[in-house]
Amino acid sequence: LFAGQSEFLKGVVAMSGLPAADRMEVCFAGRSNVGKSTLINALTGTKALARASNTPGRTQEINYFTQGPDLYLVDLPGYGYANAPLSVVEKWQRLLKQYLGGRSTLRRAFVLVDARHGVKAVDEEIMGLLDRSAVTFQCVLTKVDKVKEKDLDRVLDQVRRALGRHPAAYPELVLTSSEKGDGIATLRSIIATLE
Ligand code: GTP
Ligand code: MG
Repeated sequence: LFAGQSEFLKGVVAMSGLPAADRMEVCFAGRSNVGKSTLINALTGTKALARASNTPGRTQEINYFTQGPDLYLVDLPGYGYANAPLSVVEKWQRLLKQYLGGRSTLRRAFVLVDARHGVKAVDEEIMGLLDRSAVTFQCVLTKVDKVKEKDLDRVLDQVRRALGRHPAAYPELVLTSSEKGDGIATLRSIIATLE
């Protein structure tokens, strides 16, 4: 699944812009700056693939990347901006709801959580939406290279407790460092089993 080339396909602002549902896809959600684009680059083994699309003004788009002929990787806009205007937040929430509820080929959502910060209230909002949309989601801790081992245990406890409140949560966590490459092969094989 990950042998083929990866390319930026398009940024989507409305359901009508979604590419044909002709292959499976997984999406990546998380607070702004948590490391979504970096993780997609690491998974695809490309340096600036996701970042290339990450120009201001495109931040509210759902960015589609092809990975070989059989998989889409979907970079959802980051949430949790302190000063995003309400109109922007509402537009984004509406599109997200439609996407999560209406995309038949979406196999799993990965909710990225910064290993230094754990699950925040905004993450739980997304998790609640995933529950209501019946989209199985799995939590990916990012930036584990930035956390000392003794601090990591405390965060893992907090994350596991939060996941326990969400029926759509898949219990197994994935610990990643896009910097060091930790967890990337694991995440690839998890995605490969979703076929
Ligand atoms: P938005 O597109 O704004 O929602 O952000 P994003 O979630 O796509 O985050 P992005 O991938 O742009 O990463 C944000 C910053 O975190 C960048 O400076 C990355 O280099 C850094 N970063 C991402 N992953 C890791 C990691 O595993 N370890 C370390 N040390 N830094 C990371
Ligand atoms: Mg990004």
